[in-house]
Amino acid sequence: MKTLLTGGAGYIGSHTAVAMLDAGHDVAVADNYYNSSPEAIRRVEEITGRKVSLYEADVADRSRMMEILRAEMPDCIIHFAGLKAVGESVAMPVEYYRNNIDTTLTLLECMKELGLTNIVFSSSATVYGEDNIPPFTENMPKGVCTNPYGWTKWMQEQILRDAWFAGAGSEKELSVVLLRYFNPVGAHESGLIGEDPQGIPNNLMPYISQVAVGRRDHLTVFGDDYDTPDGTCRRDYIHVMDLAEGHVRAAEYSLGNRGTEVFNLGTGNPYSVLDMVNAFGKACGHPVKYEIGPRRAGDVQDSWANADKAKEVLGWEAKRGIDEICRDAWKWQSGNPQGYGE
Ligand code: NAD
Ligand code: WQD
Repeated sequence: MKTLLTGGAGYIGSHTAVAMLDAGHDVAVADNYYNSSPEAIRRVEEITGRKVSLYEADVADRSRMMEILRAEMPDCIIHFAGLKAVGESVAMPVEYYRNNIDTTLTLLECMKELGLTNIVFSSSATVYGEDNIPPFTENMPKGVCTNPYGWTKWMQEQILRDAWFAGAGSEKELSVVLLRYFNPVGAHESGLIGEDPQGIPNNLMPYISQVAVGRRDHLTVFGDDYDTPDGTCRRDYIHVMDLAEGHVRAAEYSLGNRGTEVFNLGTGNPYSVLDMVNAFGKACGHPVKYEIGPRRAGDVQDSWANADKAKEVLGWEAKRGIDEICRDAWKWQSGNPQGYGE
């Protein structure tokens, strides 16, 4: 299968590129390096011993994307490209709506013009909103999002579903696969690729990693007065290579099927903030320093997946647990203390 990964130089895209190549598929990547580096793709090639067709491109640039798609004619597009920082989206909503929604509209226009039918989209558990009770199942109604980033995912899901519906039953019927990720963490086991956030990390695992490696003094735990066993929030942390392998199965599934299908990509197991701090301390060989701080606005207490549908339909389930997650995150962070910047 020929795949095109938009945003494929980013964190999840680069790991998916490895999994796709390892599964024997071909990979092209289109990325504008807004939040990534071509070095990640060089390392993907080093890990797999295979070539990637790499294009520097803004996925919202229609003529550039027509050129790339004409050259590649992929069997499946996996659309990772997007802006993803929750706090920044509150400060810059117009940029978030413009970038995230324009990239999706542009791809759909190009696909229509070229007769391409298959797209897998990076959605998020954030679309379940605040009122659904975990474990979240795909047939729950989508919720009310707490920030513009979340709404862009909510809207992009709707746009993709509407685009499929318009052609349903015709020869040109699309295959749309919406993947709702839970909390992707960890790194490829080689330690050559991993998450490389710019500036101060917003997310828990990169923050813990940077404390462990000495780049930051301590972690602030956002609240210990939640109604959970240790008072801290619980999440479904999924190893990025498990997530990557889920994309391989989703893309393969899309080839034989038309329609719109939604899959949770999670483990089904919740862990607290302090569980992750303790697991990381074991992996890196010393305790990770933390202090308890106030709750963070917009955080939900609990979020985890019911992961049955992906197992039943895609034959995929997460295999790696939090010990592997912390081991591989530590290998990446300790081997590349400044990320790709070094
Ligand atoms: P990332 O920032 O590492 O990767 C996104 C990539 O898209 C980057 O390489 C960036 O340069 C590129 N990009 C952004 N706008 C672009 C544009 N207009 N044209 C071309 N390239 C563009 O983020 P990630 O963590 O790998 O996330 C990938 C996707 O998964 C995103 O859509 C994100 O919203 C979604 N997602 C991520 C998480 C998470 O926790 N990491 C959770 C749920 C969903
Ligand atoms: C996890 C837990 C924090 C940092 C976000 C997005 C979501 C999705 C994944 C894209 C929470 C706590 C964190 C810190 C802490 N992204 N924490 N101290 O909020 O579950 O999800 O990333 O789609 O949309 O909202 O992930 O890693 O930020 O937080 O105590 O310095 O760690 O309060 O309980 P979150 P996270």
